[in-house]
Amino acid sequence: MHDIIRQLDEKRAAARLGGGEKRIDAQHAKGKLTARERIELLLDPGSFEEWDMFVEHRCTDFDMADTKIPGDGVVIGYGTINGRMVFVFSQDFTVFGGALSEAHAEKICKVMDHAMKVGAPVIGLNDSGGARIQEGVASLGGYADVFQRNVLASGVVPQISLIMGPCAGGAVYSPAMTDFIFMVKDTSYMFVTGPDVVKTVTHEEVTAEELGGAVTHNTKSGVADLAFDNDVDALLMLRRFFNYLPLNNKQKAPHRDTTDPAERLDPSLDRLVPDNPNLPYDMKELIYKIVDDNDFFELQPDYAKNIIIGFARMDGETVGIVANQPMVLAGCLDIKSSIKAARFVRFCDAFNIPVITLVDVPGFMPGTSQEYGGIITHGAKLLYAYAECTVPKVTVITRKAYGGAYDVMSSKHLRGDVNFAWPSAEIAVMGPKGAVEIIFRKDIGDPQKIAERTEEYRQKFANPFIAGSRGFIDDVIMPNETRKRICRSLAMLKGKKLDNPWRKHGNIPL
Ligand code: COA
Repeated sequence: MHDIIRQLDEKRAAARLGGGEKRIDAQHAKGKLTARERIELLLDPGSFEEWDMFVEHRCTDFDMADTKIPGDGVVIGYGTINGRMVFVFSQDFTVFGGALSEAHAEKICKVMDHAMKVGAPVIGLNDSGGARIQEGVASLGGYADVFQRNVLASGVVPQISLIMGPCAGGAVYSPAMTDFIFMVKDTSYMFVTGPDVVKTVTHEEVTAEELGGAVTHNTKSGVADLAFDNDVDALLMLRRFFNYLPLNNKQKAPHRDTTDPAERLDPSLDRLVPDNPNLPYDMKELIYKIVDDNDFFELQPDYAKNIIIGFARMDGETVGIVANQPMVLAGCLDIKSSIKAARFVRFCDAFNIPVITLVDVPGFMPGTSQEYGGIITHGAKLLYAYAECTVPKVTVITRKAYGGAYDVMSSKHLRGDVNFAWPSAEIAVMGPKGAVEIIFRKDIGDPQKIAERTEEYRQKFANPFIAGSRGFIDDVIMPNETRKRICRSLAMLKGKKLDNPWRKHGNIPL
């Protein structure tokens, strides 16, 4: 008995050491934590239950039979974040560069299968040199097994990827299918093909950081949702983020008590929209002023900034916020912003999170680059997402809601539950100037007449009352009472039940 206990201790110690002191030091020297240190920071102290510590690879080629490291490059198990269950895998770069073998993939699949069975989220901490080269197709099969599970888990349990080192080649496609990707600046990168291959094929010279670093994916590609300065920051923010989410698609997100009164008024909002309809203002100011405790967790803040997305709470309940940002491209919808918001709305819908939409949109972005890039298809994604969405939807039009973009932004016609407008709202087919230049084209040479017609159009259409007279908006509200009115609407909508017709799945324009 003593012997076996000693053996157990030794095996545990060996597994905990991963690739050994030297490689741990190298990991630290790069500013990175080890796989286990990361789990310790992510989970509640002492809550981690580790599985498969003694799993080893089964490869015998290239002298691999002599180099077995218990755990085989990934630490898996479950634990809690603020007392709520979560499954985790954390790749260990000190063991074969965190490369994925058949056994390593089986471990990841094990936690994913359990997460699905019990209905809890999966968090992946990625730090890996990709497919274990010595294993060839066995490791590729392992990836596909993980991919398949990512897809089956999509919309069932939240899946979050935190990229904390390399993630290249086929390895990128598992995070790509998870709901959120967070990255660590300077130490993480993601690309399908690395700089060397890029140079050979396209003759472009580019560094790994430029090609797929955290800044690139948070500003240029939109692949990632947030970038953090270091491992510690990333893990602590991930804990915060986790609190906004339900454990699975059958549950609601957790309530968080607040001392911020649901009926709180904010008189400063009455001055937010400038008198001149062509002047911008910061939509984030509105968001911060209406949510609980001014606490807004923004996602993709540096990508497609003409639309804002993120989580907040109202009267203690998680809400997803989608808002046009008049400060950037006048808040118009383009390809990137449509995709950004559509994916977010679909996440909220899948996981029972009400959507609050704040509208100030002059329309879709004109131009050849948008049309050639497929704005028709991509804009339709956002329309589709809102139209299929059955969670509570509350919309506030602060200023412009023009043309097709009015329809898209959670309008009444797409089953918006409660649609408010501020007195400054202008709900029309287009802005007064453009409208007059079309319908009174014959008067274009006469500035006096055009000015009169424009004013007439403004009086008639650039207000919320025509939409109000048809019931397309439920009420014209004072800006200062926006929080109160949204909170009341959400309370009323708590029992909302709405189902879409049965189908295998819809065919969103991809
Ligand atoms: N399969 C097997 N072992 C791998 C590996 C892989 N895919 N990727 C890295 N390793 C091993 C390295 O051989 C090295 O082992 P050692 O410590 O025993 O010498 C260890 O992991 C660390 O790798 P190293 O190259 O020293 O680290 P680095 O930080 O300088 O570079 C990478 C990291 C990921 C850029 C580099 O290892 C790499 O290019 N790996 C191959 C990536 C790839 O093409 N993967 C297959 C396609 S999916």
